[in-house]
Amino acid sequence: MKNYIKVDEWNIIEEGFDPHLNKISESIFSLGNGRMGQRANFEETYTGESLPGNYVAGVYYPDKTRVGWWKNGYPEYFAKVLNAANWIGIDVKIDDETLDLHTAKISDFRRVLNMREGYLQRSFTAELPSGKQVKVNTKRFCSIVDDEAGAICYRITPLNFSGNFTFTPFIDGDVKNQDANYDEKFWEEVTKEVNTDTAFLTMRTKKTAFEVCTGMQIAVYQNGQPVEVQSQTIQREKYVASQFTVATKQQEETVIFKFAANLSSENYPKEQLLQHCREVIQKISHKGFDQMLQEQAKAWIAKWEESDIAIEGDITAQQGIRFNIFQLNQTYTGEDARLNIGPKGFTGEKYGGTTYWDTEAYCVPFYLATADPQVTRNLLIYRYKHLQKAIENAEKLGFTNGAALYPMVTINGEECHNEWEITFEEIHRNAAIAFAIYNYVRYTGDAAYLNEYGLEVLLGIARFWAQRVNWSEAKQQYVMLGVTGPNEYENNVNNNWYTSTMALWCLEYTLEAIEKVKNNSPDKFAAIMQHTSFREQEEIAQWQHILQNMYLPVDEERGIFLQQDNYLDKENILVKDLKPADRPLNQKWSWDRILRSPFIKQADVLQGFYFLEDRFDLEIMRRNFNFYEPRTVHESSLSPCVHAILAAKLGDEERAYQFYLRTSRLDLDDYNNDTEDGCHITSMAGTWMSVVEGFGGMRVRKNQLHFNPFLPGKWQSFSFKVGFRGVLLNIKVSKVGVQLTNQSGKDISVVVYDKPYEIKAKAQVLAEHEFAA
Ligand code: BGC
Repeated sequence: MKNYIKVDEWNIIEEGFDPHLNKISESIFSLGNGRMGQRANFEETYTGESLPGNYVAGVYYPDKTRVGWWKNGYPEYFAKVLNAANWIGIDVKIDDETLDLHTAKISDFRRVLNMREGYLQRSFTAELPSGKQVKVNTKRFCSIVDDEAGAICYRITPLNFSGNFTFTPFIDGDVKNQDANYDEKFWEEVTKEVNTDTAFLTMRTKKTAFEVCTGMQIAVYQNGQPVEVQSQTIQREKYVASQFTVATKQQEETVIFKFAANLSSENYPKEQLLQHCREVIQKISHKGFDQMLQEQAKAWIAKWEESDIAIEGDITAQQGIRFNIFQLNQTYTGEDARLNIGPKGFTGEKYGGTTYWDTEAYCVPFYLATADPQVTRNLLIYRYKHLQKAIENAEKLGFTNGAALYPMVTINGEECHNEWEITFEEIHRNAAIAFAIYNYVRYTGDAAYLNEYGLEVLLGIARFWAQRVNWSEAKQQYVMLGVTGPNEYENNVNNNWYTSTMALWCLEYTLEAIEKVKNNSPDKFAAIMQHTSFREQEEIAQWQHILQNMYLPVDEERGIFLQQDNYLDKENILVKDLKPADRPLNQKWSWDRILRSPFIKQADVLQGFYFLEDRFDLEIMRRNFNFYEPRTVHESSLSPCVHAILAAKLGDEERAYQFYLRTSRLDLDDYNNDTEDGCHITSMAGTWMSVVEGFGGMRVRKNQLHFNPFLPGKWQSFSFKVGFRGVLLNIKVSKVGVQLTNQSGKDISVVVYDKPYEIKAKAQVLAEHEFAA
């Protein structure tokens, strides 16, 4: 755990330069706009430890798989979002010395991520080996207004000398991924050109042949006036630069603006890529840095209007939650249904920028409440578009008749994870995808989604479950063998309660969806039936038979559901019995020992309560919670949020708050010593859930928002924004009760502590409540 980030409500601040923390800061201070993301690498040369990262959404490379023993059904490759051409680089030479923060003496270093307005600022004084001192101040952002563009303002002032500064702003396509399986470079050059103040480099990925054109334009100012510089162009393989020298007097500031863009062949025909890149560069450099930044600030402030959480009385918590919201909004903007949310977003290479069940299980609730419904709809359509591939994936494993198994890890619909116990067995992801459809329809009321896209996906998923169970002669019931539940610290178990329960839920919901579509849109229904060759009577009868005869493991004596058949055979020890030196288990114990131990990586039975809470009474939930939580090590960052929400539901406010704390500043404090790999973007959505669904007790029932909040003891108040069916609400929970402000022009009725409230357009209502002291 580190504690070097200075607390502030709206800014992430680092003061003083510590090279050992640099890779962590590169992750934390990352920028993104949904289309591209950039780690907080330096503009100048840096020869110290760094993980360079510029990622262009949707552009990936199928890196050949590395496995020990090949198993039939394994994917050939792991898709990775690539480190793309470096667009931020500006090499600086002062007379004949290179400015390099690794070799210079650095003082007054300060890095600030302004979350309210969406930009990164950095300033420092550097003393070069010769004793020359310069002061540098930079600002940059990835624009969410011109979402293919980024801009940099680089200011440098000689403090104790006059001399010549040689600047080399460049685009360098000779980059690689540090996680490349065979140390291979993934890009080849297509075209390049460089003029005095502009340069363009188009690179193509090997195998996938995506093309990305990166462009730049440079403008130089001194004393507030543009300077005509004599540039020299530099070209070498995969590299273009424009180099110029300016004579500078002591204390005279030189300002370089670098306007850049990354355009991908996913969005333009390849032969027009360069032309479009020129146009974007022209447009943004014409706008100028200040105007771009003003537009950026305005757009970010508008995003905050819909998604902010404000906490009074705990500035550390305030910074933590805003950081999470900021990163989520930087990662996914929902404009493009081909894109999704990698567990590390655009902040590092780990997890390859690929899609996991994290999106449906954790991110969907965040985007549903804080963004236009279209944003979540696009996340769902992403899976709809991959349905055919999911059917092929299931066929590879021996399933038939349109059964669909969505991949555990994917970028284009194909599975790219290759551990059999996860690839073939962690099939619960199918249920999360179905649940997200339900969740979307429940939240938005957009039942037409089922006609258009949802039902087909549900049918494929239901067919999978119907084939994945088998009839046990011994039990005279259906069973589900050989699965891995969300708890990856047990593999190949039989009758994982969560997976089987969710499978049944999928069958039920699909039956409900069939009825809805049949009634609402008979023509569409007929078309889907035909298209999917659905044998309505026969298949439905089979599903009903499964629904009535499925085996779910329970322990009557303890009154709990069993995580899997043999869970109680495991040694009866608890997390509190572990020595601190044993933690985290996944780093300290052999895999064999972990698998045989009773320790649970993340919510499993409890994950089922999170999704289906209205089906279980509080006592059952409490018994299971009290049994499983003491055996859970929470070694996935996705775990504490589910526990926080359930603890809140069970009235255990203190524990709810403790679980929330475990992830609220996971990256800012580098809690797990792994932030240098990138930030835990999907778990950030879980932290949001802890506040809104946990402390705020927000639920959607029967087309209405319900709130059941409590106020964490340390906080004076907290407030959050939710958009619901065209209404924007601000819910403030403070010592006097729950104040609901309707910020829109439409009335809404909500339920607070089981009492109905009508809130007129633009009006405010107070639900008085006394919180326990
Ligand atoms: C968790 C999975 C999760 C993945 C990506 C793993 O550690 O166990 O549930 O999908 O990380 O976040």
